[in-house]
Amino acid sequence: MTRANQNFLKLPGSYLFSNIAKKVAAYQSVHPEADIIRLGIGDVTLPLAPAIVEAMHKAVSEMGVKETFRGYAPDLGYEFLRSAIAEHDFKARGVDIAIDEIFISDGAKCDSGNIQELFAADSKIAVCDPVYPVYVDSNVMAGRTGSYDSATGLWSDVIYMPCHAENGFAPELPEVVPDLIYLCFPNNPTGATLTKEQLQKWVDYANEHHCVILFDAAYEAYIHEENVPHSIYECDGAKTCAIELRSFSKNAGFTGTRLGFTVIPKELHTEDGASLNALWARRHGTKYNGAPYIVQRAGEAVYSAEGQAQTKEQIAYYMENAKLIYEGLKSAGYTVSGGVNAPYIWLKTPDHMTSWEFFDYLLETAHIVGTPGSGFGPSGEGYFRLTAFNTHELTQEAIERMKTIK
Ligand code: MLT
Repeated sequence: MTRANQNFLKLPGSYLFSNIAKKVAAYQSVHPEADIIRLGIGDVTLPLAPAIVEAMHKAVSEMGVKETFRGYAPDLGYEFLRSAIAEHDFKARGVDIAIDEIFISDGAKCDSGNIQELFAADSKIAVCDPVYPVYVDSNVMAGRTGSYDSATGLWSDVIYMPCHAENGFAPELPEVVPDLIYLCFPNNPTGATLTKEQLQKWVDYANEHHCVILFDAAYEAYIHEENVPHSIYECDGAKTCAIELRSFSKNAGFTGTRLGFTVIPKELHTEDGASLNALWARRHGTKYNGAPYIVQRAGEAVYSAEGQAQTKEQIAYYMENAKLIYEGLKSAGYTVSGGVNAPYIWLKTPDHMTSWEFFDYLLETAHIVGTPGSGFGPSGEGYFRLTAFNTHELTQEAIERMKTIK
């Protein structure tokens, strides 16, 4: 008899963004005239920068010529991309990361979901609350989270680190020591950041207690303020306790193209002495055949002078939207945060509406799609996330609509 993986059956409901997409499609089928503005999922709207498209065209042409055709990519990634990353993302910030510590993949979502495979089944995880749902769901699938309490929205074996207005949406060091600590800064969904001193405390804690930090830096390109680290390896001692996840989706518009990478320093070992770098390489070898050559060449172009200038412009464009949302909503009397070093604005729902009540209200009265804060965890209840990834025009229009319904 075939039996399902019982862990999967424990997952409540559907994945947050699939659920939202379904609700919006259902609404639109009944109201085809509704001019919906999407500020929900963090998907980019600007086309790929010209330098990137040019590199892709060139790579496509190479694939059509016998002498330059490429078959399977090296399973850990092409050296040209890994050295561009080492040079620009790390060396330029005073961090020494070797190319064999960089693993190219098809995106940070997959890596952040898969990385937990390297750890023992009974590893205790700690997550911020609210949290990017992939971290918890992938550990549910691995059977690591205990039982789910639908009244509280909490898993019995997960250590939650509440992030709320009183602590500046920054988690506090857990009293019960976890094995794995998921941190995402700049944060999805709150848009909050940690200073270098704050992050250093996490690194020191992890080294002292032999935990591994899974640091998701997918939004680092949005950092504008000084003293906000772009990489956890800017902190002393991070190489012995941290894995870093990076994405090309948000910094260069690869949401549809797919490209990301994970950094696992060779100094990083589990307490029982296993090299996590070696384990991840072994896993890649078995389960992965590498991101496409064409896409890796496109990734390389992100680091060219033109690529850097063009992608910076795109980020500036989105950050203007973030400012527009932040200031527009604030002046209309909403309580808002985030949006300074991140493309996400986190607001309190008006009139004590629950997050999902506000989702429906906003969709029905203003035809705007956002993301209910409670979808990211219990501490997100009563909050709502808007993204800065739409066009200036539609973002402006959305804010005008939100002003009139307040
Ligand atoms: C989000 O909206 O939270 C992100 O776009 C999801 C993701 O990057 O997978």
